[in-house]
Amino acid sequence: MARPKIALIGAGQIGGTLAHLAAMKELGDVILFDIAEGTPQGKALDIAESGPAEGFDAALKGTNDYADIAGADVCIVTAGVPRKPGMSRDDLLGINLKVMKSVGEGIAKHAPDAFVICITNPLDAMVWALQKFSGLPANKVCGMAGVLDSARFRHFLSLEFGVSMKDVSAFVLGGHGDTMVPLTRYSTVAGIPLPDLVKMGWTTQDNLDAIVQRTRDGGAEIVGLLKTGSAFYAPATSAIEMAEAYLKDQKRVLPCAAHVDGAYGLKGIYVGVPTVIGASGIEKVIDIKLDKDEQAMLDKSIDAVKGLVEACKGIDSSLA
Ligand code: APR
Repeated sequence: MARPKIALIGAGQIGGTLAHLAAMKELGDVILFDIAEGTPQGKALDIAESGPAEGFDAALKGTNDYADIAGADVCIVTAGVPRKPGMSRDDLLGINLKVMKSVGEGIAKHAPDAFVICITNPLDAMVWALQKFSGLPANKVCGMAGVLDSARFRHFLSLEFGVSMKDVSAFVLGGHGDTMVPLTRYSTVAGIPLPDLVKMGWTTQDNLDAIVQRTRDGGAEIVGLLKTGSAFYAPATSAIEMAEAYLKDQKRVLPCAAHVDGAYGLKGIYVGVPTVIGASGIEKVIDIKLDKDEQAMLDKSIDAVKGLVEACKGIDSSLA
């Protein structure tokens, strides 16, 4: 059987890391696409040359021609510009919306059966626009944010409790922005919910609140340190986890920016929710019960996402 084909649209910091991870995990053959001439070709060759030492079997090709993504099983989109210090994800909207239009058209023409994972920010609005521009089924187009936000939350919690990250599970809902909703009640250490761990004296409510805030600011913390761009290792790893769930029909329960129509009382909006990812793409949106405070936080986050979607419609009338 031929290997799956993974097309990476955008061969920058995240795109290059995605290519390296996909090859090392032998998820399939990799096509790196970018508008910058030489960048995807150079990265593809460099990663291919790591193959003999690493011992993976995967073909890599860099290209500036959309025709090369033909028949891709998975497309991961990072095309666009990243943040610089002082910028919010929302400041990227105007530039990256135009990029989503060309990417959506390219995928629709050459890889209409692919499972598409968008990473470009501002995430929830960009994945919404990408689905509209591409016309692909909504269950085959999603955004990577929740896996990353949860991973950041898990990392900080494992430091706080001094336990392995493997034993920490965490839940983050809502948009990928300052209004994201880390859900402490559904986050656990070996099955023990965080509020119980406060009661047990393992941590304090103040420490937990600080960790929640650090999770919300997780992307900005990295931007502030790097100064020339935004995070790329953890975002790439998170998207690869989603791609693998699709390619191997793993039925993983992963939070991601999915098209929500009905659940949470929402109508046709992309926002971060827990989902099941398998061979049909987003196979299920899990509609968990929220208490009053959690619902209020989610409502605020959804309002922020709706504001960005309206801004997109204002910029490109074909989306209205
Ligand atoms: N088509 C294809 N590629 C494009 C296009 C386009 N229309 N416009 C820009 N690109 C390419 C750039 O040439 C660059 O190589 O997208 C790549 C983006 O790479 P980086 O600038 O290194 O950005 P990166 O850190 O990978 O982040 C990409 O993901 O997390 C988000 O906020 C981040 O929106 C940003 C995106």
